[in-house]
Amino acid sequence: MKERNIIQLNATASTNDDLKARIAASDGPVWDVVTAKMQTGGRGRLGRSFFSPPGGLYFSAALPLTGTETNVPCLTLVAGLCVCEALEDLCGIEPRIKWPNDLYLNGKKLCGILCELVNGKTLTAVAGVGVNLTAPKETIPEELRQKVTSLWAEKVSVPAPAALMKDVIDRLDRAVYQDRVLSDEAAAARYIGRVQARGYLTGKTVSCVVNGVTLTGVFAGVAPTGAALLRLPDGSERQIISGEMICQV
Ligand code: BTN
Repeated sequence: MKERNIIQLNATASTNDDLKARIAASDGPVWDVVTAKMQTGGRGRLGRSFFSPPGGLYFSAALPLTGTETNVPCLTLVAGLCVCEALEDLCGIEPRIKWPNDLYLNGKKLCGILCELVNGKTLTAVAGVGVNLTAPKETIPEELRQKVTSLWAEKVSVPAPAALMKDVIDRLDRAVYQDRVLSDEAAAARYIGRVQARGYLTGKTVSCVVNGVTLTGVFAGVAPTGAALLRLPDGSERQIISGEMICQV
């Protein structure tokens, strides 16, 4: 692993897009981290936008791969775990991981993760992280207020953004390059065990759409591949690779 090159911007459309462009234009492995104080076109999963006002931490870290990794899909959960553990250590809180890419605090979304692959000269994963730090409740748009929160709104002491970012990136680097979580089955099982211990959905009744069909069942956990395990009313278990889990009340 090389030393990381941090590119700090005041504002940009999307740090993921900036980093992807740098990787695509490079002849060799890129170890950049792009961070911005705000984003005007922050992107989330499933083509959604990610509200990114000033006062949040927004960054994207490049993770060059060898091409031999067998379990790249678990990266989103591992990145979420890294943010979760960093927040536990720095802020003394216990966010929960909502499969596959959100962190929740007190029942509301605190952080979103967007991992993407760039097939440049070197295959590279981009881990994009957005954490709501200081947004007061009243600055969160009305339509998001019931669903989204920030550390400040939850009366949690807010860490320095640079310190939080460094802590998360150190954990990601350890997971990918030291513990080889994307290649080593035993390492993946250990990391996913830590994800499960922080699961937001476990035991809840959820619905998700698979191939146009809505499935409803109890969220039973996460497989080492990162797939969600859904227990259906007939007792059978389905592995869900991607999609969104909607909680039923
Ligand atoms: C989601 O909520 O579905 C994921 C949100 C991911 C947001 C982060 S912020 C930094 C990086 N740049 C983006 O455009 N998206 C990610």
